Amino acid sequence: MADIPPGQEDTYSGTARGFHWWTVAFVVLQVPLGIYMSYRGNVQGIFDATTNFLYSSHKTIGLIILFLVIARLIYRIAHGAPRDEPTITSLQKGASHATHWLLYLLLLAVPILGYLGVALYPSLGLFGVVDLPGLVAPNQDAAAKVFYYHFLGALALVLLVGVHVAGALFHYLIRKDGVLARMLPGAGRRDVA
Ligand code: HEM
Ligand code: HEM
Repeated sequence: MADIPPGQEDTYSGTARGFHWWTVAFVVLQVPLGIYMSYRGNVQGIFDATTNFLYSSHKTIGLIILFLVIARLIYRIAHGAPRDEPTITSLQKGASHATHWLLYLLLLAVPILGYLGVALYPSLGLFGVVDLPGLVAPNQDAAAKVFYYHFLGALALVLLVGVHVAGALFHYLIRKDGVLARMLPGAGRRDVA
């Protein structure tokens, strides 16, 4: 069996799939956590130990996502991706590539804006144990604007993930091609004909 040159594999590598599904797990946790904690704090006006714990958890998970995505992008740029599923049209190719790079952009921008927001506010404590580095001078007006963009970015991320998942389901259920199988946790590396 000949070695398959990089970028010519039919499925994403185990590492790429690991990065993908860990990112999914953290983002799926992070969004409702962000909505609930800010509802509890800003709408209900409850700033107790539970709200603090939720904010600390959101900041921690957000930073985990940021580092995970940076590592994932370095890996992605170094190793590339498998060639496109052979049966997809050039329109589908263009749409999926654009969606993927926009997802990466949002996965970087949203946590960076979150961090900038807490640095400006400032609200840098994590679980009352450590403080994140401040990096910028406090400015609550600027913090409010940055949190607004953080919210818009998170909304765009959720909508784009919706499009992305709809695309994956379209390939699996309607087009019945091999696109979803390339990213499934159990996908083995298949030989190229
Ligand atoms: C991909 C990562 C992230 C996602 C998807 C995300 C998502 C969200 C969402 C959906 C909200 C609720 C917005 C609202 O209801 O107004 C929120 C609020 C918030 N996020 Fe994030 N977040 C992420 C990373 C971060 C990071 C890294 C930090 C800080 C280190 C952070 C700090 C905050 C804060 C402090 C709020 C509350 C803002 C307010 O009270 O107005 N987030 N986030
Ligand atoms: C938070 C949710 C998600 C995010 C942020 C996300 C992000 C991404 C990104 C950035 C890529 C591009 C990989 C690359 O080429 O470097 C990708 C690929 C892929 N994702 Fe997701 N994804 C999410 C959820 C899902 C879900 C729930 C499914 C399945 C139902 C899925 C199925 C796929 C598939 C099949 C590919 C490969 C597409 C192809 O081979 O062209 N994703 N995802």
